Order: sequence, then structure tokens, then C-alpha cells
Amino acid sequence: MSEEDPRILELRAMRAKSREGGGADRIQKQHAKGKATARERIEMLLDRGTFNELEPFITGHIDDMSMATEKYLGDGVVTGYGQIDGRTVYVYAQDFTIYGGTLSEMQSHKICRVMDLALRNGAPCIGLLDSGGARIQEGVKALGGYAEIFRRNAQYSGVIPQVSVMMGPCAGGAAYSPALQDLIIMIEKQSFMFLTGPEVIKAVTGEVIDSESLGGSDIHMSVSGVAHLAAKDEAEALALVRQFLAFLPSNNVENPPFHLSGDDSARMDEHLNSIVPIDPSLPYVMHQVIEAVVDKDTFLEIQPAWARNAVVGLARIGGHSVGIVAQEPAVMAGVIDIDASDKMTRFVRMCDCFNVPLVTFVDSPGFLPGIAQEHGGIIRHGAKLLYAYSEATVPKVCVITRKAYGGAYVVMSSKYLGTDVTYAWPSAEIAVLGAEGAVNILFKKQIEGAADPAAERKQLAADYREKFNNPYQAASTGYVDDIIEPRETRAKVIAALSALRDKYAPAPPRKHGNIPV
Ligand code: HXC
Repeated sequence: MSEEDPRILELRAMRAKSREGGGADRIQKQHAKGKATARERIEMLLDRGTFNELEPFITGHIDDMSMATEKYLGDGVVTGYGQIDGRTVYVYAQDFTIYGGTLSEMQSHKICRVMDLALRNGAPCIGLLDSGGARIQEGVKALGGYAEIFRRNAQYSGVIPQVSVMMGPCAGGAAYSPALQDLIIMIEKQSFMFLTGPEVIKAVTGEVIDSESLGGSDIHMSVSGVAHLAAKDEAEALALVRQFLAFLPSNNVENPPFHLSGDDSARMDEHLNSIVPIDPSLPYVMHQVIEAVVDKDTFLEIQPAWARNAVVGLARIGGHSVGIVAQEPAVMAGVIDIDASDKMTRFVRMCDCFNVPLVTFVDSPGFLPGIAQEHGGIIRHGAKLLYAYSEATVPKVCVITRKAYGGAYVVMSSKYLGTDVTYAWPSAEIAVLGAEGAVNILFKKQIEGAADPAAERKQLAADYREKFNNPYQAASTGYVDDIIEPRETRAKVIAALSALRDKYAPAPPRKHGNIPV
């Protein structure tokens, strides 16, 4: 057998060295924390054997400005392309074993390169982040490196899907890049997002706080609303990326992929006909309505633990991707507050930019009244939702299940905001205000002057309900397109979406709008 060419041997040795990352000790430390390495994560994410690495031999600059002492091949990030469900994706995974995965000038160059390729080829870009933020030794070069990434995040937004999985600590710039993307997935007890870490906070303010309380997945899933999905471990987090991307097209000029669901399009759920209680003050669970209408087991709820009075998520209906937006009457009666407005707005815009039709279920008494909401800017936040629904050109179908009072009627995909088909259930109540509030205003003098004001108010409220607690008045004036039995909803929504598939609704030319952020 002839001897191997030494140049081939050298290449193999270099490749092996690049796979060592920051060295065996640091890899072992990473594994000891229950964390996989960057390359192991990419293998878990992509279809088997499809990953092709780019620029593995890049090293960090070590010059006068840098205090870093060692050059590591790859410079703390593994980049390249591969496939998910046979579709091309671009990926970068930070390697915590090299300077804590921190961002250097050359790491930024590598990340920007895959982002540029993703854009040019109309494919999603996925980041697996595990990083201490800007590499301190590189000073302004690292900061500039982040700016390069942020600019691309913003400019490519709405052109290709961008997804971030937080695999560990993600500090400083490592938190801002994901915040500019379409989806952030966190891992319970393992990933943390903050602008300044516990060490810096301690140095600046003396305050001692642990990473979990500062920016763990619970905080970002239920308090800040920064994260969209949480997983219990790395494998589950990476599986969520695959599940999410299966709902979306690879770019904004494609349509979402069709997946035959096997669920009967004409399926009727008899339970829906009795799901709304006769007593309008009693709640029911909108999640059950959603599950009954969409293809079985396809609903992927986004931000399930934040602003729970609103529900958003992706699903399939008749095999096609849809974005579901709804109120949850079982939480705060489905009222719309600041956080719910923000949650629904962002989701509506994501669906619109990726050609995912919107199906909205409405049951809301309106905007949450009170000084905290007014002073917190509910006008500004609620306006975002109006803006998003008005601007969205994807097919829009709306189902009013019960209350659609005042702002809730108008804002939640109402017909004259441009919704294509609006259905109401027989339990729909469409009015400017709820009965008590309305009669207090309309019949103030009459109630005050009555022998028994309480009885008078009750009677007037009953008359008002009689008039407005049904969808017929709205239907008689064309404000809803049809009144349907709840059990028919699935078939009706599928038929509407099918009739709207070739919808053409060009927006007037402009540079961009000025959404009230
Ligand atoms: C250089 C860093 C670093 C950094 C960590 N390391 N952060 N090197 N620059 N920012 C190195 C450590 O020296 C160590 O090197 C290795 O990474 C692992 O770090 P440890 O601290 O040992 O790990 P751990 O205990 O798990 O803690 C991880 C951490 C912590 C939570 C990320 O290191 C930390 O708080 N770092 C600073 C985070 C921060 O405040 N960054 C903000 C940067 S400013 P060795 O050689 O021992 O393996 C920023 C501005 C951008 O990003 C602004 C954009 C708008």
C-alpha cells in the first residue's frame, strides 16, 4: 500500500485540531454541565449527514490591541449549511469552549457569511448561541462585529426566517441578535439571557443575583415576553426548531409547505356546539376550540406562558399552515392589555411576512380599563395591533365565538380592517360596550330617577342583551359574513382559506410604514 500524501495527512490533522475546539478539558467541562458541543448540537439539529462546515480554519486576530493569548481554529463558532426535512438551512453554533463562545471580529465575519448566504439563497438561518457576549480582549472590534450581525438581522427580517436557540448563557450582544429574530427558544435551567451578567451587576451595583433569577427561561417565558418557546433539554429545543420551520416557507416569496395531515376536512366536532356557556359570565377554554378546529395535534403555541389572556400559535388546517390568534376567556376574561397587544401584533406580522394565513378567534370584553394600562401606553400598544391587522395582506379569516365588544371587535381582525371572511357563532355578542356599562351611560338619568334604580338597571341591561347578545344585528348590516354552527367551524375555515389561496392584495408603494412601537 502506498504511503498517504503528507499534504492529505496535514489536512486531516488540521481538521482534527479544528474539531478539538478549546481543548479536551473544556469539552469535558461542557459535557459535565450536561451540555453538548457546538458540532454535536448541529448534528442533532440537521438531517443526518447533511452538514457542511465553512471556514473552520479561521482564527481570531491576535494583534497589539488584543489581550487574547491563544489562537483557536474556528474562533469560537462553527458555521455552515445543511438540511432540515430535506430543505436547505444555514446554521451557526457558538463554541463555548473557545473564549466562552464570545464574539470576536472573525467570529462575526463567519456568522455574517452564513447569514449572507442564507439571504442570497432564500433559506432560513439558525443560530445556536452559547456566549459571554462581546469578547472583552477585542474591544471595539467585537462591538463592531455585533453591529454587523444586528444590521443583517434587521435587514433580512421578513425575507428569510431567523431562529435563535439559547443553549447557555447569552450575555450582551448575544441577547440582542436573537431579539431581532423571528423566534427565540430557551432551555430550562440551562440558558440565560441578559444584557449585563451577574458579575458585572455585582461590580457596578454590589447587587448579588443569580443568572436564573436575572434572565432564565421562566423569566423570559412568563415575565418579560422575550422568549417564545422553552424546552427541557437541548434535544427538545432543537426538535422545536424543526417543528417551527416546518410551518414556514424558506423565504418570503415562497408559500409555506403543505403537509397532508390525514385529518378529515369535513370533520365536525359536536362538542363545540355546547362549548360556550349560556351564562355569558362563565368562561370556557379557547384552547379547546383551537384544538378542535385545526388538524389534530398540529397546534404549536408560541409564548404560551406570557400574556395568557391572548393565544397565538402555528397550526395546520387541511394540511396548510395557519397562524392562530385568539383570546383565552378563561384568563382575565380574554381582555386585551398591553402585553397581549404586543404578543398578538408581533405574531400577526411574522405570519404576514412569511405568507401564513391568519385565523382569528374573538372572545374579548375589550381593552383592559384602568390607570395602569392607560399610563403604560395601552393606546400605543393597542394601536400596534390595529396596524398589524390592517397591514397584513395574507388571507384573514375571523370567527367571533362570543364577546366582541368595542375595541375588541374592531381590533381583532374585523371585517373593515380588511378581514376576508368573518363568521360569528350564535353565541356572538357584538356591541360597543357590555350591557351594564352601556346602560349606565345611556340611561343614567332614567336609572337615577327610578323608584328602584337597581331593578331599573337590571331590566335595561336585560333589554340591551336581548338586542345585542346575538350576532343577527351585525349580520343584518353586513358586519359579519355568516352565522355558523360552532361544529361547522373547521369545514368553514378550510373552505374560506381554500377560496382565498390566490388572494392578491398589493400594498400601496412606500419605503416602510411607521408602526407605533
Ligand atoms: C472574553 C470571556 C467573556 C467575555 C466569558 N469569557 N465571558 N472572555 N470576553 N465577555 C471566558 C472566560 O474567561 C472563560 O475562559 C470562559 O469564557 C468561560 O467563562 P466562565 O466565566 O468560566 O463560565 P461560566 O461560569 O459558565 O460563566 C459564563 C458567563 C460569565 C455567565 C457568560 O463568563 C460572564 O458573566 N461573562 C461576562 C458576560 C457579560 O457581561 N458580557 C457582556 C459583554 S458586553 P477560560 O479561558 O477560563 O475558559 C457586550 C456588549 C454588546 O456584549 C452590546 C451590544 C448592544
